[in-house]
Amino acid sequence: MRRVLFGFPRNSPESHSLVSNLEKLLKAEQGQWSRRSFPDGETYLRIETPVSGAQVIILANLLNPNGNFLDLCLMADALKDQGAKEVVLISPYLPYMRQDKVFNTGEALSSKSFAKGISAFFDRLITIDPHLHRIHDLNEIYSIPTQVLHATELIAQWISNHVKDPFIIGPDGESSQWARAIAGNHPWICLSKVRHGDHHVTIDWPPLETFADQAHGRTPVFVDDIISSGTTMMRGIEHLNTLRVPLNLAAPIAITIHPIFAGNSFDQIRALGTAQIISTNALPHLSNSIDVAGLIAANF
Ligand code: R5P
Repeated sequence: MRRVLFGFPRNSPESHSLVSNLEKLLKAEQGQWSRRSFPDGETYLRIETPVSGAQVIILANLLNPNGNFLDLCLMADALKDQGAKEVVLISPYLPYMRQDKVFNTGEALSSKSFAKGISAFFDRLITIDPHLHRIHDLNEIYSIPTQVLHATELIAQWISNHVKDPFIIGPDGESSQWARAIAGNHPWICLSKVRHGDHHVTIDWPPLETFADQAHGRTPVFVDDIISSGTTMMRGIEHLNTLRVPLNLAAPIAITIHPIFAGNSFDQIRALGTAQIISTNALPHLSNSIDVAGLIAANF
């Protein structure tokens, strides 16, 4: 079957390596489309590549979902109208996964609402390490088939190629799933975090004597699924810095699957003496060092 891949949104950096890498690996034609805004702000959108009978993939960068969601739905609908056999959404970063509970009466359960919208327009969804916390399976909120891929092996491989004696640190309870999988036989710990606000977290470390021997002389490697405001990573690294001399630690490395880096958080994390900040290209960012195209293609 003919396969056509559309990169989304139009203004996503052309340099987003994932689009071109995946096109090659999936032997997909590059889909052309255009959009503009009418004077009143509404979207005009046109699919320029014929898709009748084809399997169509939209590879979406949904870092800014609010401005893009409607365009995404219009595009999927237009593709169906033009006879696409299947319209698959590959969204390596899946947004709206963190408001997964009504904490205060009246709040929108945005994870569920976003999932309903996507499920109405797409035939299936493929994503990488979505933020599954209180929702344990995407099928709890998505009514289309979903496939969750994991970048942990790729990250473990990067660490084994680049870091001599790593000491893996998950900065909060949720990150323990990634930290454990990435650590393999290397020593690792998981910290405990309480979030008080978007930019305010407190992090508790286990007693020093419980990890001092394992960590001594190693390179601390923080791993987290998302770096967003950067607050979690910054608080973790700040405390780690107080342990560097007593434990003879190298400068830390920070690795994330989804590099959001809101505001100037990337520079702030770097300014803490972080040796390297590494990410996958699930979202385009200058820290991208780990390519997930092969992971997606192998599981498509
Ligand atoms: C949630 O707990 C995640 O695992 C990340 O730790 C979190 O999303 C990071 O957010 P921020 O960079 O805003 O602290």
